[in-house]
Amino acid sequence: MTTVEHRNYRLTGPEGAVAASRGLVSADWYRCEVPRETMRHLMQRSDGRALRDTGLWLALLIGSGWLAHTFWATWWCVPAFVVYGVLYGSVGDSRWHEGGHGTAFRTSWLNNFVYQLGSFMVTREPVSWRWSHARHHSDTIIVGRDPEIAAQRPTPLWFMVLAGLGLPAVWSESHKYAANILGRIRPEEADYLPKSEWRKAIWSARVHVMIWVVSTSASVTLRSIEPLMFVGLPTFYGKWLSVIYGFTQHAGLAEDVLDHRLNSRTVRMNRVHRFLYWNMNYHVEHHMFPTVPFHQLPALHEAVKADMPEPYSGIISAYREIIPAVARQNRDPSYFARRPLPTVAPVSGSAAGLLQPSNREGDQTGGWVPVCELAELPTGEVRRCDQFGQTFAVYRLNDGSLCATDGLCTHGRAHLADGHLSDNIIECPKHNGRFDVTNGAPCRAPAKVALKTHDVELRGDVVWLKVPAGIDPQP
Ligand code: FES
Repeated sequence: MTTVEHRNYRLTGPEGAVAASRGLVSADWYRCEVPRETMRHLMQRSDGRALRDTGLWLALLIGSGWLAHTFWATWWCVPAFVVYGVLYGSVGDSRWHEGGHGTAFRTSWLNNFVYQLGSFMVTREPVSWRWSHARHHSDTIIVGRDPEIAAQRPTPLWFMVLAGLGLPAVWSESHKYAANILGRIRPEEADYLPKSEWRKAIWSARVHVMIWVVSTSASVTLRSIEPLMFVGLPTFYGKWLSVIYGFTQHAGLAEDVLDHRLNSRTVRMNRVHRFLYWNMNYHVEHHMFPTVPFHQLPALHEAVKADMPEPYSGIISAYREIIPAVARQNRDPSYFARRPLPTVAPVSGSAAGLLQPSNREGDQTGGWVPVCELAELPTGEVRRCDQFGQTFAVYRLNDGSLCATDGLCTHGRAHLADGHLSDNIIECPKHNGRFDVTNGAPCRAPAKVALKTHDVELRGDVVWLKVPAGIDPQP
């Protein structure tokens, strides 16, 4: 009998170091070429669509909850709880996700509100999961680095069924919660959660547990399971739909690659599913460009589809690949479903223009350099400028004023010129961290360290930047 070799998926195991030695940690990923003007349009934020969808979601949640309560202890409450559970345990998951990225709404507190609500509904401590998800985007399906690999090889098919009841997820979360409420952070969590966030994570875990205690106490006092059927248990009985969606994202695909087209799926879904899932069926596009809000993902798909594998025609079509692939991985963990890529010329990297100025005043010791004509930097836009071995980002704000910062994000060294500028805030294209470009201050996690700012001025029609001495001068 052949023994099946298990890879070690633990973040504290040896695979993380192996991945680092192979250049797979916080690496540059393949990105389809999208003209900057198109991206700028796709990254625009608005509150309208998310407000409409959230209003409808909460109205359906309250309506089905009211019906479930009204018909309690009759068979009629069963369909009402089925709907309530899905809206709570499954739709809550997609709202958690989009709120966490901070892209669903233009207004920040609305994103945070939906994120906190969704986190509670799906039993995820919100502080640590924000950082876990940033790691998932940095190192997607990199073994030993990604804390969110749902289908680790081998994954028995019965495990996928249990996942539909929320049992594995709640089991692993319960260990985290238990440590957190005792004031501890487990080593796995500490691998991605900065120490400065530990206290917040501990207190937010305690708040969740207190709410469950209140719900449980109400059930005990009333000698009825009804309060728990509304708060707590829907995480289990309503999770199945989010698990069906969730396994389509990456299950059975390649590990340890730096191309989301090979480790993620885009699956065509109808309007109802896309409302429930908030367009996360465009999962390749989402991973490639996480600054694009959910309502623009169909348009992003159109913009990049020539450079994408053929999308799956539906959920069933995706599972026709997933189930045999996962079953085969139980015998042969090295197996994965291969995605044929189109043969169009691949172009990756920053979509922002690079100016190679010919009339520098400075040299590798620093100095003033021309960046571009003012007309090439429209208001509300950012431009990348590489000089003397360093990268800068130069911004023209909506009031016409100019400013400049270091060009690489202090969290994961992504190019900020590929990000979204809104008023004086630049949003990093990799994990949606944000900085105030007028002073470099970080203003949204996972960005925690300030950017350096630089002098910039207009001379005639040309934007000039004062760069510091370079560490790796260009010839
Ligand atoms: Fe992580 Fe910028 S690279 S927020």
